[in-house]
Amino acid sequence: MALWRASSIHIASLLGLLSCLILHYTTTTTTVAAIRARTIIHNPSPMELPIFREAPAFRNGDSCGSKEVDRIHIAMTLDANYLRGTMAAVLSMLQHSTCPDNLSFHFLCAYSDAELASSIKSTFPYLNFTVYRFDSNLVRGKISKSIRQALDQPLNYARIYLADILPADVKRVIYLDSDLVVVDDVGKLWDVDMEDKVLGAPEYCHVNLTLYFNNAFWSDPILSKTFQGRSPCYFNTGVMVVDVDKWRKGGYTKKVEEWMELQKQKRIYHLGSLPPFLLVLAGNIKAVNHRWNQHGLGGDNFEGKCRNLHPGPISLLHWSGKGKPWLRLDSRKPCVVDHLWAPYDLYRSSRHFLEE
Ligand SMILES: *[C@@H]1O[C@H](CO)[C@@H](O)[C@H](O)[C@H]1NC(C)=O
Ligand SMILES: *[C@@H]1O[C@H](CO)[C@@H](O)[C@H](O)[C@H]1NC(C)=O
Ligand SMILES: *[C@@H]1O[C@H](CO)[C@@H](O)[C@H](O)[C@H]1NC(C)=O
Repeated sequence: MALWRASSIHIASLLGLLSCLILHYTTTTTTVAAIRARTIIHNPSPMELPIFREAPAFRNGDSCGSKEVDRIHIAMTLDANYLRGTMAAVLSMLQHSTCPDNLSFHFLCAYSDAELASSIKSTFPYLNFTVYRFDSNLVRGKISKSIRQALDQPLNYARIYLADILPADVKRVIYLDSDLVVVDDVGKLWDVDMEDKVLGAPEYCHVNLTLYFNNAFWSDPILSKTFQGRSPCYFNTGVMVVDVDKWRKGGYTKKVEEWMELQKQKRIYHLGSLPPFLLVLAGNIKAVNHRWNQHGLGGDNFEGKCRNLHPGPISLLHWSGKGKPWLRLDSRKPCVVDHLWAPYDLYRSSRHFLEE
């Protein structure tokens, strides 16, 4: 079994090279409609799950602690259609982590699908992970149609219920979408000083929040005052550090649900699970360095056009938007940024091919 070590120099030079290429060859779109995505195109039967290569073993550096407080908890959803993305995300974290043995993964799954869990197990034999069943009935009645069908999948809302699903001894968790790779030590994100905040994420204060809510919201004398006394900024819910303890004590699940219920009665926004998060928390989060969510690489919500990297250092690349790197690579029409995802792809074949 080979032992892989994080190779950030390699990534850095690759990024440098690619950003030059990107400047020359891609079309830039101006929309900042970066939201996470979950597409369920069909529900493949377990036997149709793709086959992945086994990831190598990763071992802790000498500086790693052995106390329970040294453990890093990561939560992600687990879905057959995004499995290839999940595998790449996990591999990227193990590969760049200083203490890979101390990562604990918590996967939220809409069905109790033993095949998904065994796929993770055979790809990452040494991974410490737990699969939880997310009861989609919790949200089914609360989801209203958004502008993109993929955003309306119940599992997309699972992040709201993290604090209820995770064991009580988990006090902090990093929630991550499945369409991203981490190219830095995730421990640095884990160690962010949350101050007294319940949620930490990069903030984008230049984004005009007005556009995320409709006229029914802004013309209502009470609703339109929701953000009064705060300086609300857009944040992407695909990368969040959550103080689950504070979330539980503050009853945040209920607060987010209440906005979803209002949306169901009286349409006040266009997107899926993002706006209720903004309504409850925008202007009251811990701002994390932008390097932790280079989002929008999947392009816009309608066409998924190629997007540039934003300037500045990068610790996490996120293909939010319609396009997904594995689909574009398979279609042989990848965007330049998709080549940054490819090194983490563990996909070997679908079961239709002969095995080696
Ligand atoms: C971190 O990993 C080391 C090495 O495997 C192990 O000895 C230690 O107990 C781990 N700490 C936690 C909190 O899991
Ligand atoms: C795996 O992580 C859990 C916490 O999520 C911990 O209780 C358990 O001891 C860990 N198992 C191993 C083998 O480190
Ligand atoms: C935000 O968008 C609204 C609606 O298009 C516009 O009226 C408002 O001036 C914009 N605000 C800023 C700060 O650009």
